[in-house]
Amino acid sequence: MKIVPFSPGCGAVVSDLQLSRMTDIELNQLRAAFAEHGLLFFRDQDFPPHEHLRFANRFGEIVVNKFFKTTAEHPQIAEVRKEKTQQTNIGGGWHTDHSYDDIPAMGSILVARTLPETGGNTQFANLAAAYDALPETMKKRLEGLRAVHSNTHLYGENGIYRFTDLADQLGGMDRVGDATHPVVVIHPESGRKVLYVNPGHTISIEGWEFDQGRELLDELFAHVNTPAFTCSFNWLPGSVTFWDNRSTWHMANNDYQGQARLMHRITLAGSPLKAA
Ligand code: SIN
Repeated sequence: MKIVPFSPGCGAVVSDLQLSRMTDIELNQLRAAFAEHGLLFFRDQDFPPHEHLRFANRFGEIVVNKFFKTTAEHPQIAEVRKEKTQQTNIGGGWHTDHSYDDIPAMGSILVARTLPETGGNTQFANLAAAYDALPETMKKRLEGLRAVHSNTHLYGENGIYRFTDLADQLGGMDRVGDATHPVVVIHPESGRKVLYVNPGHTISIEGWEFDQGRELLDELFAHVNTPAFTCSFNWLPGSVTFWDNRSTWHMANNDYQGQARLMHRITLAGSPLKAA
């Protein structure tokens, strides 16, 4: 197995490995790489849905998304689907999967099934590197803070998605809710400090005036969303991406109007987050 950085501050490419034929030793090497980089890219994988599931089960425990449709054959595989007639895509803004849960997801494994001829990249951001690069004054300011994460503004009865052409393919309107988490968490496997707020789901700072919290969050979001901590992955048939939801953001580019895109996603369960 070969592992090389994808870009200076974001992700790693794993080669000389077929995920569907991995030995236990390779699985352990992959666990270490996942803890170190938080974002792994794979090319040329022979990875039908049953192998996607088998890999996920070998790595951890699957948690099913409350809002996405699943494939007909595999209720643990969520579909991230955009038909050629649809304008809106799923995940088109920076976010972290399931940060609105009390125990957020550990990781997500995304597989390309139908790709547009051009466009449809997924962008990622590295929240451990972004935390390290914060000025010491900001690190001090963030100590002890907690943030509120929600999905109501997206998937609730009056949520943004309900007024788009994606509405019919989303469920779970009655299962929306909030959770609070430390703004800086200790990553359970790497031990690194990570900035755990994201533009899609983090709505406020607990105990602060809304506007004051927004100001701080916007400052943090602008700090992360720079070339030093972000990268863009171009999908090809056989590509697989595996990201750590505790230490990354991602966003699906919506730059392929008139073409279809279908991805299969499995999300893995995490553990309660601890403040740094
Ligand atoms: C997602 O938000 O999980 C989807 C990412 C993608 O479709 O590229």
